[in-house]
Amino acid sequence: MTRQIMLSTTLHELRSARLLLDGTVGLVPTMGFLHAGHISLVRRAREECQNVIVSIFVNPTQFGPNEDLSKYPRDLDRDLHLLEEAGADLVWTPTPEVVYPPGFQTWVEVQEMTRPLEGAQRPGHFRGVTTVVAKLFNAVQPTKAYFGQKDAQQTAVIQRMVRDLNFPIEIVVCPIVREPDGLAMSSRNVYLDTEQRKVATVLYRALSAAKEEFEKGGRDAEKLRRTMQEVIAREPLAQMQYVSCADYDTLRELDKVTGKTLLSMAVFIGKTRLIDNFVLE
Ligand code: PAJ
Repeated sequence: MTRQIMLSTTLHELRSARLLLDGTVGLVPTMGFLHAGHISLVRRAREECQNVIVSIFVNPTQFGPNEDLSKYPRDLDRDLHLLEEAGADLVWTPTPEVVYPPGFQTWVEVQEMTRPLEGAQRPGHFRGVTTVVAKLFNAVQPTKAYFGQKDAQQTAVIQRMVRDLNFPIEIVVCPIVREPDGLAMSSRNVYLDTEQRKVATVLYRALSAAKEEFEKGGRDAEKLRRTMQEVIAREPLAQMQYVSCADYDTLRELDKVTGKTLLSMAVFIGKTRLIDNFVLE
């Protein structure tokens, strides 16, 4: 059975609605244009919390000047329908002016962990993410907040921020939801044309090849990186930006795989930038 979903835009509306909620609150922060990956987070929150709040905000400060902010896909009606079905209680859709009022000049920055991988390719990206997530946490005051393993570095950075700034919030990390052919679900997949969509499985194929090598006993990190590079290089329509075999906790590149390890990559398919990762335990 679906229940009545509430919608708020201003901070005042959100706070008033939040005050009426009894018990635990799960927050799922999103930028909208929802797919099954987002919905898996909402369902997990629904299982674990008495109330579920979803935020939809395309956060301008986490996009670089040459990134896709203005054409980032949006469909609020469809999102609300999906959220109602998934059992969310309250959706917050602030405008940029609500989140960044005139004169705004306070930023939250996690230092070392934001330098490699996505941080190296997208200067300022994580400063935008941590600032907006800190603001969402302050506004909503959730018991738990749900993030996807799809954005592995983002999740690690947010966990660091929560520890460093004493947010009394439990971060729950949910597994990557994939299409049947392995492509990780992403709002950006809609940019892919039919041919590019077929090529886009290359991330999953490259990660799978490295994982297979690891399972056969391969522990040389440089060799695992090379295996992933080679799979990507065989696709003329795919342009590798980086591949990484890094320590899961520090995100530093490894020489040898010994403990929990993050294999990750960013690949351009045409103009669309896709990321994906596997965890080796
Ligand atoms: P967005 O890209 O909309 O993603 C919202 C959440 O959904 C993130 O935690 C992301 O990791 C998760 N997610 C996306 N695709 C997924 C998939 N295929 N499987 C599982 N989870 C998936 O990430 C952001 O928004 C923003 O940076 C945000 C945290 C909202 C801050 O602006």
